[in-house]
Amino acid sequence: MMVIKKITAFAIIASLSVVVGASSKPDYRDALHKSLLFFQAQRSGKLPEDQTIKWRTNSGLTDGSTDNVDLTGGYYDAGDNMKFNFPMAFTTTMLAWSVLEFGRRMQDDLAQARQAVRWGTDYLLKACINLPHALYVQVGDPEVDHKCWARAEDIRTPRSVYKVTPVNPGSDVAAETAAALAAGSLVFRHIDKEYSNRLRETAIKAFAFADKYRGKYSDSLSSVVCPFYCSYSGFEDELLWGAAWLYKATQNSSYLNYAKSLGVNNKDSDTFSWDDKIPGARVLLARDYLVEKHEAAADYQKSAERFLCSVLPTSPSVSVKYTAGGLLYRMSGSNLQYVTSTTFLLSVYAKYLRASSQTFKCGDMQVTPSHLRKLARQQVDYILGQNPKRMSYMVGYGNSFPQHVHHRSSSIPSIHVNSQHLSCDAGFNFFYTSSANPNVLTGAVVGGPDENDEYADDRENYAQSEPAIYINAPLVGTLSYIAACFQL
Ligand SMILES: *[C@@H]1O[C@H](CO)[C@@H](O)[C@H](O)[C@H]1NC(C)=O
Repeated sequence: MMVIKKITAFAIIASLSVVVGASSKPDYRDALHKSLLFFQAQRSGKLPEDQTIKWRTNSGLTDGSTDNVDLTGGYYDAGDNMKFNFPMAFTTTMLAWSVLEFGRRMQDDLAQARQAVRWGTDYLLKACINLPHALYVQVGDPEVDHKCWARAEDIRTPRSVYKVTPVNPGSDVAAETAAALAAGSLVFRHIDKEYSNRLRETAIKAFAFADKYRGKYSDSLSSVVCPFYCSYSGFEDELLWGAAWLYKATQNSSYLNYAKSLGVNNKDSDTFSWDDKIPGARVLLARDYLVEKHEAAADYQKSAERFLCSVLPTSPSVSVKYTAGGLLYRMSGSNLQYVTSTTFLLSVYAKYLRASSQTFKCGDMQVTPSHLRKLARQQVDYILGQNPKRMSYMVGYGNSFPQHVHHRSSSIPSIHVNSQHLSCDAGFNFFYTSSANPNVLTGAVVGGPDENDEYADDRENYAQSEPAIYINAPLVGTLSYIAACFQL
């Protein structure tokens, strides 16, 4: 009886999913809209009038005061209340790149995407206020912050401020800050000229600081940036990436020559992330050769294509792994960050190839723009629910999505519902409860499933259940592209 019941139930579920699968194509525009709302939920500082994520309110209003500077604003990194500028600047660069490549495909969401960039660049400008003497790189002590489960609005833990200086340099974080400001200056070029100029001028200063005082920020700040955002790959990849963006923003060829002179050009990487910028810089610079026919950038086409050949699953030189369910799999912690960053590069390169009517080869395999688009779409579809678990890894998208997201403000009742101050310990009651998060963190993409396509919807499993701003940022661009290519 039991067995028959099980079979019947399974048969019904199976036939239902076939029906659902046949009739429901992912709604990429809905996902794009939601992916941007997540950035509102991560806002620190004084929130604007048009904030639509209403369960959040002002927070971190004294950030920077211990150093007599204003470091309010910016984004909380992930499920904590930290402001880590290194990944935040990368996030801002990727949001800006998303707008630059795919803004015209964003339709009604373009204004929101520009706002998301500006929330990042406004804060990064503040971080540059004391250049060339110091660059601010972080607010909050992660050891203290991580031991406290509190809403952003309830932060009582010390808001320690960290910086890099000529004697304790950080070329990685400084060059990434420069990249974000330079990319941002291009976003606002025709919209707010004064602001755009300010971003570009500050980017030039931040890059000069990165270049002149060389070193890894984690050498002097290891106790507060490692193991979270340690500069594992060193700083040369950021010098390359920063120079590439400065070249784009200024059209000054000395930045391209500088980029070409770096030793890191001889190194290959199959991973694009907040730490390793090599593949991103190569794809960005490849456009100059592919589309602009600028001979000086020819090497970047070759190296960008080596990267793409390392991630295409049927390429003879593939070096990355895919799960049985078809998901690009790099690492157990927040794997979806590699999926969104890689699919962004696939999308951008497909666009460049199309614009120049080109294809390329991985060994004997001919690669066309539609090849790259198909893989990007397949990865996005996996994230949005076409996977063995039949669940969406974007919160608030589809019928089945993560309920126990590792996120302090999402998991504790809103300040508007419970206005009492909740201590760190009181907060932990909401961490350990089996109840779903009371505030839906709409649009957040979580760390994602493991190498067996399994997902534990469990706050304690932060490797899988924690969202992060740099997981979402490249997805904004990819969704805009995929929506324009494939949405009916
Ligand atoms: C180009 O950039 C270099 C390096 O920052 C600088 O020395 C030079 O003055 C710039 N040239 C122009 C035309 O702005």
